[in-house]
Amino acid sequence: MRTLGDLDVAGKRVLVRVDFNVPLKEESGAGPAGGSHVTASGTRTVTDDTRIRAALPTLEALREQGAQLVLVAHLGRPEGEHDPALSLAPVCARLGELLEDPVSLAPGVVGPEVQRAAEGLREGEVLMLENVRFEAGETANDPDLARGLAALADAYVNDAFGAAHRAHASTEGVAHLLPCAAGLLLQREVETLETILREPARPLVAVVGGAKVTDKIGVLETFLGQADSVLIGGAMCFPFLSAQGHSVGDSLCADEDVEAARGLLGRGPLALPDDLVLGDRFAAEAQIRQLDGVDVPDGWMGLDIGARSARTYGQRIAEAGTTFWNGPMGAFELEPFAAGTRTVAEAMAAAPGTTVVGGGDSAAALARFGLADRVTHLSTGGGASLELIEGRELPGVEALR
Ligand code: 3PG
Repeated sequence: MRTLGDLDVAGKRVLVRVDFNVPLKEESGAGPAGGSHVTASGTRTVTDDTRIRAALPTLEALREQGAQLVLVAHLGRPEGEHDPALSLAPVCARLGELLEDPVSLAPGVVGPEVQRAAEGLREGEVLMLENVRFEAGETANDPDLARGLAALADAYVNDAFGAAHRAHASTEGVAHLLPCAAGLLLQREVETLETILREPARPLVAVVGGAKVTDKIGVLETFLGQADSVLIGGAMCFPFLSAQGHSVGDSLCADEDVEAARGLLGRGPLALPDDLVLGDRFAAEAQIRQLDGVDVPDGWMGLDIGARSARTYGQRIAEAGTTFWNGPMGAFELEPFAAGTRTVAEAMAAAPGTTVVGGGDSAAALARFGLADRVTHLSTGGGASLELIEGRELPGVEALR
């Protein structure tokens, strides 16, 4: 993979693909000044700027070398339609604050006006294109859109690891049209995850949670073949427990997941919880019951792994050379069912080995417990990191090779 050092950017205009697909909140009336964009209907604010901060080292490095930057990013899934609610304006405002330099927003994605704005950039200045998914050609990887993007710059840098599993015009097509390289974030993400697969410090422990076995079957297959233990939590333990003949009560447990789980049992060092926290419904006010065992009675659902299981998992993480964690251990968004996920998060934060967290819900959990900066690597790409671990090629990465 070509990296920033392979690219001469001094005095050049560089198109940088970033993943700024961040959560926003919309409030009526004027909101707080920080990172906000005020519109006629109210104020839109970035509520988690982790992905924006993660791109700063690449942006700073390019600016320090005297490049002019044209940023391209998507927000949500507008499906080729211009949707003002998905404008990148609030993201642009937040980036300007973080860079301590204003960032201007282009009036569109490509075309003469945008071209003029790009050509007017001076050394170190940053222009952000509007949401690239306002163009239908983006997700279709349309060569015309790729050419339009390429016309805006002399070189292309992809730092959007979170979108690297998409073969879109701004992540794949355009890479073939300009001298290109990986940004520092994308490079670190790929190298960290590839090291886990190729030469991890052992023991290698995978902690896999979340709702559905079928969503993570490829990841489970990889780790059952390569890890020293695979610790299962979250609702996805119920299909495994059901396949072993346990009763699951009202727990989340689809037939297709039980089938998938049955196919994985016996294929590697899989560990399941041996105690659970139950609720009589999915709510913070639910009646709660600690179950010493895993046979869930009717009228109850498993909503967290039990304290003994969480301690066992924490111990394995403490002894691991490398731990990869994806997916919460329970319904951590409901306080009575957060303990299992918190114990795993704290074990990750305290572990002496290498600790890597896939994006998505596990990243949100770490942030909620204030531990986001206490792991070796927190991936900015949920889907992308899982696809890499499944052994799939990421189109956005392959195009840079
Ligand atoms: C993400 O948020 O996971 C990435 O930005 C990719 O977004 P997408 O799933 O809409 O392609």
